Amino acid sequence: MMTATMMLVSRVRRLGCVLAFCFLALFLWGLPGARALDNGLAMTPTMGWLHWERFMCNVNCQEEPDSCISEKLFLQIAEIMASDGWKDVGYEYLCIDDCWMAPERDSEGRLQADPKRFPGGIRRLANYVHSKGLKLGIYADVGNKTCAGFPGSFGYYDIDAKTFADWGVDLLKFDGCYCDSINHLADGYKHMSLALNRTGRSIVYSCEWPLYMWPIFKPNYTEIREYCNHWRNFADVYDSWQSIRSILDWTTSNQERIVPVAGPGGWNDPDMLVIGNFGLSRDQQITQMALWAIMAAPLLMSNDLRHISLEAKALLQDKDVIAINQDPLGKQGYRLRKEDNFEVWERPLSNLAWAVAMVNLQEIGGPRSYTISVTSLGQGLACNPDCLITQLLPVKRKLGFYEWTSSLKTQINPTGTVLLRLERAS
Ligand code: GLA
Repeated sequence: MMTATMMLVSRVRRLGCVLAFCFLALFLWGLPGARALDNGLAMTPTMGWLHWERFMCNVNCQEEPDSCISEKLFLQIAEIMASDGWKDVGYEYLCIDDCWMAPERDSEGRLQADPKRFPGGIRRLANYVHSKGLKLGIYADVGNKTCAGFPGSFGYYDIDAKTFADWGVDLLKFDGCYCDSINHLADGYKHMSLALNRTGRSIVYSCEWPLYMWPIFKPNYTEIREYCNHWRNFADVYDSWQSIRSILDWTTSNQERIVPVAGPGGWNDPDMLVIGNFGLSRDQQITQMALWAIMAAPLLMSNDLRHISLEAKALLQDKDVIAINQDPLGKQGYRLRKEDNFEVWERPLSNLAWAVAMVNLQEIGGPRSYTISVTSLGQGLACNPDCLITQLLPVKRKLGFYEWTSSLKTQINPTGTVLLRLERAS
């Protein structure tokens, strides 16, 4: 005979299953329908290192030989990526940003590296990078000049694509400065995508197309996804909490538009990881790492791997967090709710698992506790009928078994994040 409690539990379970079915239907309905750029690349978000945020356009090798944009910097970073565990956890692409070029093209119209700062040229650098088991990324611009004023690719898309392929380049970051019309911008991004494909070399295509379109009109993400492997939507990241917050705020304000379009082969790019630099506290670095994992963002670090704290290194090399970022289901997470200066984000993972991040955005006071009913997580599915929860950040800790009706209590530092992984228990 059923007791009243048993009946209640069974009714709650039945309700759980009905709700779960509705959410599943909604969820499937929301699957990205858009075709991805058909180059077989970036099936999970690109991981690597990109010089811009940390080293910018420092061309003064006389006075700053260790931090100017030169082959020496890239040779050293390549060496460290291969020997200090970076490559082993997935950071594969070593990427050059702006300011690598000589001020003029060569006599045949080809881009050339600055001969003083890159005496061996890009091909030799690429060979070295490949010998370390890594891949090389380079930078160019769809318009008449790069953002820092070096030669742009407008009118040279085919030549430049061929030059990069000949050099053995594996990724192109294509910027959008100095483009005189919105038509040139769109046509240029498409033209370069096709030109890269025609070279026959596998080259990841990283765009800034939507970022430069937004001020004029709303980007067509379905189209962008057909041409780019990832695309920047918003302003450049800086080494500050304000910058990280503004990126998260932009993302949540636009999530209905940008989340459904992300998936294997094409990703939203909220810009570089600045962990290991000067501007973020420990908690803020944790927030960046956790949220970039939830957002299925390319993980392109911009820091000095020659001088990085053990703490920052451990965070950037955290395999559990990287596994969330690289989850093969390839669905971008989103903000589920905001209340009382807390944000809850969640991301569906393969094998019916979920990642959940809880952020304490309050910048006054100490750690605050936040309690959430697990029923509300994972569209009603994550803990239905029960789940095992592991806290991954700020420290890894097994939290144990949770039933559908239970609550989870956490303590979160100001500007910090608690990142959880929820797995099916039964
Ligand atoms: C733009 C891009 C940055 C960087 C610089 C280089 O601002 O958004 O990521 O590439 O140009 O000049």
